[in-house]
Order: sequence, then C-alpha cells, then structure tokens
Amino acid sequence: MSKEHLIIFDTTLRDGEQSPGASMSKEEKLRIARQLERMRVDVIEAGFPAASNGDFEAVKAIAKAIKDSTVCGLARTSEADVRRAGEAIRPARSGRIHTFIATSPIHMEKKLRMTPDQVVEAAIAAVKLARQYTDNVEFSAEDAVRSDFDFLCRVFDAVIKAGATTINVPDTVGYSLPEVWGERMRRLIESVAGADKVIWSTHCHNDLGLAVANSLSAVLAGARQVECTINGLGERAGNASLEEVVMAVRTRGDLFSCDTRIDATQIVPASKLVSQITGYTVQPNKAVVGANAFSHESGIHQDGVLKHRETYEIMRAEDVGWATNRLTLGKLSGRSAFKTRLTELGIELPSEEALNVAFGHFKELADKKREIFDEDIFALIGDEVVAPENEHYRLVSSMFHSETGEAPLARLTLSAGGVEQHAESSGSGPVDATFKAIENVAASGSELLLYSVNAITTGTDAQGEVTVRLSKDGRIVNGQGADTDIVVASAKAYLNALNKLCSGQEKLNPQA
Ligand code: KIV
Ligand code: ZN
Repeated sequence: MSKEHLIIFDTTLRDGEQSPGASMSKEEKLRIARQLERMRVDVIEAGFPAASNGDFEAVKAIAKAIKDSTVCGLARTSEADVRRAGEAIRPARSGRIHTFIATSPIHMEKKLRMTPDQVVEAAIAAVKLARQYTDNVEFSAEDAVRSDFDFLCRVFDAVIKAGATTINVPDTVGYSLPEVWGERMRRLIESVAGADKVIWSTHCHNDLGLAVANSLSAVLAGARQVECTINGLGERAGNASLEEVVMAVRTRGDLFSCDTRIDATQIVPASKLVSQITGYTVQPNKAVVGANAFSHESGIHQDGVLKHRETYEIMRAEDVGWATNRLTLGKLSGRSAFKTRLTELGIELPSEEALNVAFGHFKELADKKREIFDEDIFALIGDEVVAPENEHYRLVSSMFHSETGEAPLARLTLSAGGVEQHAESSGSGPVDATFKAIENVAASGSELLLYSVNAITTGTDAQGEVTVRLSKDGRIVNGQGADTDIVVASAKAYLNALNKLCSGQEKLNPQA
C-alpha cells in the first residue's frame, strides 16, 4: 500500500535563526537553502520579511534561487507584514505566505491587547490578503497549546473559509506531552468544519525535551506537515529536529501510514553546514547527527555489530550521510578532481574565480595535511570564496610566540581594504594576543560573545574550526575560520566576523 505524503517544513532559516546569536547573512541563508533543496525538503521557511530589509532580501534571493522546494515567508497578521511577505516570495516558482496570530488568553490579553473577536477578524483579513499573492497560505495559531479548544476551532474554521490551505498548530512554549498533543490534533481534525480541505501541521518547541515526540504523536493523529529545524535549532530550547522526525518516521515505517520524500543521505552534510554557519555545535550523543550516534563503545556491542549489524543498529550510518565522511582528495588531486568533488558534495560556487580561490585554499591545505576529507572541503568554502566583495580584512601573514614564563605574542600582517597593515600585541594566550592585535588595527569596539574551537576531523593534523561571535550596536555576527593551526583559524574567524560587521549587512534576527 502506498503511503501518504508527510510534508517536511523546515524553519531553520526563520525559527532556527531565532536561537540567540544564530543570525545569518543572505549568502549563508542561501547556502543552507540550497542544501535543504538538495535534501528534498518540501517547504523552506526562509525568513520573516517584515523583520528587516536584510531578511526581506534574503527571502527574495532564496525565492529566486530555489526551484524544487516551496519557499515560505512569515508574516504577522498586519497588512504591512503580509504585503512584505507577498513581495518577498513573488519570484518563487512555488511560494507560500505563513501568517500567524496568538490565540491563547494570556497572549491575546497581555501581549496583543486584543479581544478574541478582534483576533478572529485579523486572522481572516490576513489570510484573505495573503491569498491575493499566492494560493498557498498557511495560518498558525500561536500558543495553540494554551488556547481554549473551542476558540481554536472558531479561528481555524474562519481562516479555512477565508482561504488558508495549511493549518499549523504550534506548541509555542514547549508545554505539551505526546499523548495530550496527539489528542488535541485528533480532536481538531474531527471538530473543525472544512478540516478535510486543508493540511494539518504541527510545530513543537523543545522546552521539555519533547518536541520530536509531540510532533510524531501529532502525525499519528493525522497531521501531514511537521515544522522542524536542522539540529533542532530554534528559539530557546529549539524546535523539533528534522533529522530525528524524518528518521523516526522512516525507521518505524511499521507504525506510520505516511513517509517523507527527504533524501536522508543529505542529513549529515546539512547538519554540518548549519552548525558551521551558526556556531551551534552538535553534541556528540545527539541522535542521528551526533559524532557518536553510530559508534559502539562496549565490547559486547562491538562484538554484536561485527557479527550482525542489526543486533545494535536500527539505522545505517551511510543512509543518513555519514558515508560522505570518507577520504576524498589528496595532494596530487588536480583542479578537475576538486571541481568534481564539489559538485558531488552539492557545493555550487558562483564563478570560475571563486573556484580558483577555493582550489588555491585546497592546495595550501593539501601541503599541510596528508588526507583531505569531505568535512575539510566544506570548511574551505568560506565567505572569502563565495562573497569576496565582503572581504574588507584578510590575514596576510602571522607569527605567534608562546614560551613558558613569557607573555604570548602575536605579530600579524593584515590587509585592510587592500592596504597592508602590521599589528602586534601580547595577551594572556596566543589567541587573546591575536584578537588584541587585530583590534589594534580594526578598533571595531565590538564585544566578543562566543569563541569556540572544534576539530573538523580526527587526528592531530585535523583542521580546527573556530567560531567567533561578535556584537556591536545590537548587531550580532558569527565568523568562521578553519586551519590546521588553531591560532590562525582563530584569526581568520575573528576577521570573518569583522567583515560581516562592516559589510553593512543588516542584522537579520527576526522578531527583534
Ligand atoms: O512557535 C511558534 O508559535 C511560531 C509561530 C510563528 C508558528 O514560531
Ligand atoms: Zn516557533
């Protein structure tokens, strides 16, 4: 029997971006959107166009670039928001407007200061207006979890009549439990007039660690769209994690009458890309995409897996994309092998010039590191390759001195707007000295919010990937840098963050 289709609505670029400090530039959003399309996500929620010009431009660029997924823009119910979302998704081959308003007593009274009647009116008006831009309109009742059931039915009834095609039921505050959430979905589908004309959707937050369980329960009760994010990124404790939802539905196909169209082999590359761009690293024991998700430590387990894999494994690592974690290129690989591997990894570079820069980086790395893995290649494709026009600062050369009993010293040559400048500083360690030396030139006055280092692959010759999060005047940016020398990686990451601060890109954080 063929299964019903379960729509995967990815909101990494909107709700995911609401994770503190995870705001992304237009180019970064585009890179993630392309990976989501490659993964065959049905709907990509690309942003909140009314939140800022930057987010509007990002949604519009994604709407232009993406062909195989529906591109969605979020809007409150105000006329201005809906029109802005409508304009942003206009270039899309398939576009959706997602409009929302809160329906719980606490939100209506304390936040919106609106009566229930006013909320219903606003919802109807927003959906009707959205339908003038697209026939694909989603309506969400924010804080549905704490909304009165009969009022929810009234709102949903009204917006379906007004033309909504997807009805989303959010657990905005992550308050529900699986049985209760499934039951609420079942009752809504039974009670709302016109329920059979729309797709029912679930959107769960993870405050009690139940976002995936609640989403799956809603699917078992009839929901046919799950809203989720890569690595479970999102506001506060995050959203339901896409990879867990997809693999649960697939692995327990005996229990679900629906399945997704996701190409699961793209899950691990997507997870790595999102973690690289946002600086949100994945915990090693995270399901599906954690580094240890498929490693067996105890002797009994290892013995079992060697004899028959399914003794301890319910999924195959290669089915979710871990197989790409293999040795791919080396010192002798030429430009065309490099280009082929980029294509196989789904990395599209904007020009031949960008390919030449990336290949140059690859050759430098191959001189330092014997074996180059796919992860190394992903880390090579930084902003200086895909958006060189934003590269105001560049590291030209560096010297670090660190000796017992001596203050560590960094001596750098930077290119600032094409002019070489020398900088020097001591510090409490080589990284501290490096950042101080850079600030001696840049004088950015920004505040360092996060500094994190991760080994990209295993072994002591692995590249270190550094994330630096800077804040200035309410704008927050993440810079990345990778190198086999982690102090050099740190300098690159700091400069990358400075380049974002001075590129004039607006902070994209929605709902700010
Ligand atoms: O959590 C929530 O309620 C939301 C809505 C905008 C769908 O993110
Ligand atoms: Zn949300």
